[in-house]
Order: sequence, then structure tokens, then C-alpha cells
Amino acid sequence: MLPKLCSTSQIINRLETSLFNKDLGIKFLSTKEIIDREKKYAAHNYHPLPVALSRGEGVFVWDVKGKRYFDYLSGYSANNFGHCHPKIVQTIQKQAQILHHTSRAFYSDVFGEYAQFVTKLFGYDKVMPMNTGVEADDTACKISRKWGYKVKKIPKNEAKMIFAVDNFWGRSLAAVSASTDPSSFEGYGPFMPGFSCVPYNDLIALEKALQDPLVCGFMVEPIQGEAGVVVPSEGYLKGVRNLCTKYNVLWTADEIQTGLGRTGKRLAVDYEDVKPDILVLGKALGGGVYPVSACLANDPIMLVIEPGTHGSTFGGNPLGSKVAIAALEVLEEENLAQNAFELGEIFRVQLRKRLSKDVVIEVRGRGLLNAIVINKNYIEAWDVCLKMKENGLIAKHTHDNIIRFAPPLIMTKDQLQESIEIIVKTINSIETK
Ligand SMILES: Cc1ncc(COP(=O)(O)O)c(C=O)c1O
Repeated sequence: MLPKLCSTSQIINRLETSLFNKDLGIKFLSTKEIIDREKKYAAHNYHPLPVALSRGEGVFVWDVKGKRYFDYLSGYSANNFGHCHPKIVQTIQKQAQILHHTSRAFYSDVFGEYAQFVTKLFGYDKVMPMNTGVEADDTACKISRKWGYKVKKIPKNEAKMIFAVDNFWGRSLAAVSASTDPSSFEGYGPFMPGFSCVPYNDLIALEKALQDPLVCGFMVEPIQGEAGVVVPSEGYLKGVRNLCTKYNVLWTADEIQTGLGRTGKRLAVDYEDVKPDILVLGKALGGGVYPVSACLANDPIMLVIEPGTHGSTFGGNPLGSKVAIAALEVLEEENLAQNAFELGEIFRVQLRKRLSKDVVIEVRGRGLLNAIVINKNYIEAWDVCLKMKENGLIAKHTHDNIIRFAPPLIMTKDQLQESIEIIVKTINSIETK
């Protein structure tokens, strides 16, 4: 009989070499074997840090050898509530035993509950449920185009969407058509017509673009996450709101990464007290356990979509709906936006004061979405990530000189302090001679 392959062990001490436990009939894999297997059988579209994780709890993850790390990526900000949050785990376990998927060909007793909950919480009339972030952003583009034709009366097939330079909203053909990053779009043409970009944080350029009567929508991140946590000047979001209203263009805020407490407010747009026409959420909306995304809008916008003209097999399924309610409840019950706000202030103050100014050129961010810019004369961001891993903290670079720091929002002050010490120790040990 072939041995059952298993990469997790909470009971048996791990060794770097592989073990075969005859009694259990389980073969435990070493870090190297896990990496080699993934390289052999999975597409090479990621370049992971060489760490093989097997367990997570709260702000920590453990590798297969039992070494503990602070998780400073949080699954690209999907794990805002930490690993294995009891309420979220219990919710998914319970609902999985009752009703997991129906499709929206039928009504379920759960989807409407979620739709009511999420629309009331964010103050919109309607939600369009999707699964991944890119699908929800694509949906926002579709809604904007439909609205452009039906309401703004743009001539057929001439609607234009505007995005910001350095935007990131996923990997579909539409998303890479909007991208200005060659590593995203190179080799994937031809691209979507009617998409163009203006510089981020530039209201003059935006106004010029919006004057074109064929423009139906402008989609932008309130803070550009993948671009390296780029925070716009104060007043930018208010300016975007005013210009979109002035030129009758729908403003979509892509809050897939910045939303749900990540930046220290429930939404990043709350910093300027403005309301987008279409709000897009994803990542943490599924509590880190299930892909759930959403577009929110008021009736005059959302009702341009009629039955049969848009959809998703899994969007709004009972399992995802229950998980999203639980995630949003945890966000509110545990006051996580406020926690992220307070911890973020401490984090940036300490890093700015204590990190070697030779190695780190800039510390920036809001709440618990932060980044440091590394001076490449001394070291690459990738190598800093490797060193931090050795010291017990995992984070990932975005571009070769920026490291994003985005731990779970449930972090305590003591945990924050312990992880700051790891970052400071790592950076300040880098040779600058
Ligand atoms: C702002 C933003 N929008 C959209 C996406 C795409 O989300 P997904 O990977 O779930 O499709 C991302 C992913 O990082 C993102 O950061």
C-alpha cells in the first residue's frame, strides 16, 4: 500500500530529513521535499520564500519543523482576523454541514441575510456577490460600462474606463489590460480597448481625462497596495469624489486590500469621509478561509444589471455568505480597525526612529498596511525577507526594493513590540560599509 502523504504534524517532532512513520502509515515531508514537489507539479507563477508552513494560529504560523513565525503578509491581507479565528472556523464548519452551495438559480435562507447585513453596514442599497477580487473589480467595470450606455447615454461600444498608473487589481485579461506593470501585461496582448491610465494622486490629470464624455468610470485604490503601499496626499479622495460627480462618471474604490480595517478605519475612504459610487471588497471579506468578494452600489447604479446579464456559479453561496457575516462581525466586535490604527502609529514611529537610515529610505503606510523602501545599494528586498524569516518573521517584497508589512489586525501591543524587535534587529545588522 502506498504511504499517505501528509505535510502537517502537530504531534511528531520534525526533522529536516523525511520520516516515515510505519505505525501511522504517514510519510512526513521535509521542507526541501515540499518545495521540490511544488516546483515539479505546480506552475511557476509565484516565487515563494523557502519556508513550508503547516499550521497557523492568530498572528503566528509554524513551519513543518515546528519553527514559529510572525505572519506579516496575512495571506496578502486576506487574514485580517488571524489564522483559525474560532468564530470564523466554527461558522464555516457549522454551515458546511447544513447547506454549502445552491447557486443563485434558487433562493437560500442565508444569502439574503448576508446581503442585508453587508449593505446596511456599508450604507449601500445593493450588493453584487462575487468570489475573488479580480472578479469583483471586473464586475465594477461591467456595471460602469452598462451604466454608461443606459444612463449616461454613451454611444454603443464606446465607453471608456480610467485607472491609475501602477494600479493592481488582479490577473485576468481585463486586469492586465489596465496594468502599467510590464511583468503583469507583457506577453498577454491584445488588450481590452477603452482602458487608459492617469498618474495616481494627480487630480489635474484626472480632471483632464474625465472631461471626455465617453468616460463611464474611474477605478482606483485609496492606497495602492501592490504598488508598494503608496499613500496619496490628503484631499486626493475628496478631489476624486468631486471630479467624478462633476463629470458624471462613476467612481469605483477598490478596497479589496485596504478595506475591512486594514488601514486603521473600516474603509480607507473613511479617512476623507467620502463615499464611492461602487465599493469593491474582497480578500478579508472571506475571513481568510473562503473566497468572497463584493461590489456595493445604490439602486440607480446596480439595477442597470438585469437577470441573466451577469453572474457567478459560487457568488453568494450559503457557505461564503455565512463566513462573510462572521468576518464582518469579528471586525466590529473586536474593534479591529481601531486596533490597526493604534498599532500602526506605534509601528511607523518606531521603525522611523530605530531603523538604519542607510538601509531604509522610507517607512510609509496607514494602520497595519505599511511598507519600507530598501536602499538597493546595500541589499535587495528579497534578501531582507530571507533574513527576517531566519529571525522568525515572514513578509514579502513588492518590487525589488519594497517590503510590505501587513500583519493580522488582531495583533496585541506585546506581539507588535516583539515583531518590531525582529525587524529592527534584522535591518540594523545589514552591512553598509
Ligand atoms: C487592490 C486589489 N484589487 C484586486 C486584487 C485581486 O484580488 P484577487 O487576487 O482575489 O483576484 C488585489 C490582489 O492583491 C488587490 O490588491
